[in-house]
Amino acid sequence: MRVAIYPGSFDPITNGHLNLIERGLVLFDRLVVAVSNNVRKKPLFSAQERMEMIRAAVGDDDRIDVDSFDGLLVQYCQRRGARIILRGLRAISDFEFEFQMTHMNRQLADEIETVFMMTGEEHFYVSSSLVREIAHFGGSVTGLVPANVEARLMVRAKETP
Ligand code: PNS
Repeated sequence: MRVAIYPGSFDPITNGHLNLIERGLVLFDRLVVAVSNNVRKKPLFSAQERMEMIRAAVGDDDRIDVDSFDGLLVQYCQRRGARIILRGLRAISDFEFEFQMTHMNRQLADEIETVFMMTGEEHFYVSSSLVREIAHFGGSVTGLVPANVEARLMVRAKETP
C-alpha cells in the first residue's frame, strides 16, 4: 500500500490542487491531504473550514483522507507512518522554495522522500493567494476553485479587510 502525504495551506483548495490529487491517485494507493495549521500564518479560513471544503470538493473517496497537522511536516509523516510527501510544481518560481524545503526535510528525516508532479497546464497560474485577492476585490473565481469553495470564498473575502 503506497501512502503519500499531500501537505499544504489549502487556504482555500483550488482546482489546481484538485487536479494534483486526482493525478496523485494514479501513483499512490492512498493520499492524505494534510492541512497545515501554522499558527504563525493568518489564514482566511480556519483549518476546520479548509478541511470541510476539501472534503466537499473531493467527495466520497476512501482513497483520500483529509487531516490537519501542527508543527513540522516530517514529524507528522513519521506519526502517520508515511514516507512520501507529494508536492505540486507550477512555474519556475515554485522551484526555489520547494528545493529548499525538500532538502531541509531530508536533513530532518532522510527516510522521507518528496515527489513532485507538474500542475496541469490549465491550472499552472492558479494560486490560493491570487484567488483570495481576486475574491476580495470582487472579481470572479469561477473555474479556479470548486463551486463549494467559490460560494464560501466570496462571502469571507468580502467580510475580511
Ligand atoms: O501550500 P503551501 O503554503 O505551499 O504549503 C507549505 C507547507 C505547509 C507544506 C510547509 O509550510 C510546511 O511543511 N509547513 C509545516 C512546518 C514545517 O515542517 N516547516 C519546515 C519545512 S522545511
